[in-house]
Amino acid sequence: MRKYSRIIGTGGYLPEKVMTNHDISEKVDTTDAWIYERTGIRTRRIAADHETSSSMAEIAAREALDAANLDADDIDLIITATSTPDRIFPSTACLLQQRLGIRNCAAFDVQAACSGFIYGLSIADQFIRAGNANYVLVVGSEINSRLLDWSDRTTCILFGDGAGAVLLKVSKEPGILSTHIHSDGKYQDLLYVPNPYGQRAREEAPYLVMSGNDVFKVAVNTLGRIVDETLAANGMEKTDIDWLVPHQANTRIIAATARKLQMSMDHVIVTIENQGNTSSASVPLALNEAVRDGRILPGQVVLMEAFGGGFVWGSALVQY
Ligand code: ACO
Repeated sequence: MRKYSRIIGTGGYLPEKVMTNHDISEKVDTTDAWIYERTGIRTRRIAADHETSSSMAEIAAREALDAANLDADDIDLIITATSTPDRIFPSTACLLQQRLGIRNCAAFDVQAACSGFIYGLSIADQFIRAGNANYVLVVGSEINSRLLDWSDRTTCILFGDGAGAVLLKVSKEPGILSTHIHSDGKYQDLLYVPNPYGQRAREEAPYLVMSGNDVFKVAVNTLGRIVDETLAANGMEKTDIDWLVPHQANTRIIAATARKLQMSMDHVIVTIENQGNTSSASVPLALNEAVRDGRILPGQVVLMEAFGGGFVWGSALVQY
C-alpha cells in the first residue's frame, strides 16, 4: 500500500518589532516608494536581541503541535531549515528538540538558503514514505537581520525575520504528491555570505552579498521551469492547482510565476508586504496564514516553490 505524508498542523512566529521602509530610509539612501514598487515590501519584522532561530522555531513548532493535537513526544524526526543557526553546532534542530522537551528522536539542520523549507519537506517525505518516520516536524527559522549590512541599500531593504513550521504524519491518503529539488553551484557568486564566522584573518565582512538583478532573472526562469516539471510529474494541468504558495522574495517574481500558471493573484498567497523575505521561513509562514484564515481548504491542491542562494530551488505539490 502506498504511503503518503500529510500535513496535520501548521504554525508560525513573527517577532514583535516592525521595521518600516521609512525606518530604513533613515539609514540608507532609499524611499518607501522605491522599495514598494520594486519589491512589494512595506514592513518587515526584526528579532529582539534575546531571540534566536531556535527560540522562534519553538514558538512556531508549538503552534503546529497544538493545531495537530499532537504531543511533542510523538515526533520521530526534526528537520530545521536555517541559514542563521544559533550555533555552528549543535544544530538548531537539536536546540529545538531540547526546547520541546523531547529526547532520542533524530534532529538535523538543512542549509539550502531560501529553499531550505522545501528541501526539508522533501527529505521528510522520503523518510515517511520509506517507513522510517511516522511524525516529522519541519521548521524554517531565520534571523536574516543579523546577516545584513545595514549600510547596503541593495540588500537591507529585502529581508525580515520569522519562523514557520509544519507537522507531517504518515497516511494512506495524499498528502504530498511530489517534491522536486535542484541546485547549481555555478551561481555561487551571485548571492552569498562571505566569511560566515567573522574570521579576523580574512578581509570580507560576514554579511549577505547579492547581485539582485542577475538573481532576479535566473529566479523567474527557473521557477517557471519547476512549475512545468511539477505539473508533468503529476500528469496535471495548470487549472488543477488551487493555490500557489511561493517563496516571498519579490512580488514581481511571484507575479511572474502566477502568470506562468495562468493563475489569478487571488489564488496566490502573498505575505511579502508585511514580512519581507524571511528566507526558509517564508513558505511555511505563508502556508500557515492561508490555512488559518480558511483560504486553503482540505482536499485542495497547493503548489509551494522556492529559489535561493546556491542557487537552490524546489517545489512541493500537496493535496491538503
Ligand atoms: N533604493 C533606491 N535605489 C536603489 C536601491 C534602493 N534600496 N537599491 C538599488 N537601487 C538603485 C540601484 O543602485 C540602481 O541604480 P542605477 O540604475 O543608478 O545603477 C537602480 O536602483 C536599479 O537597480 P537594480 O538592482 O537593477 O534594481 P532591480 O529592479 O533589479 O531591483 C531587487 C533590485 C529588488 C534587489 C531585485 O533585483 C530582486 O528582487 N532580486 C531578486 C532577489 C531574490 O530573489 N533573491 C533570492 C532569494 S534570497 C536568498 O536566497 C537568501
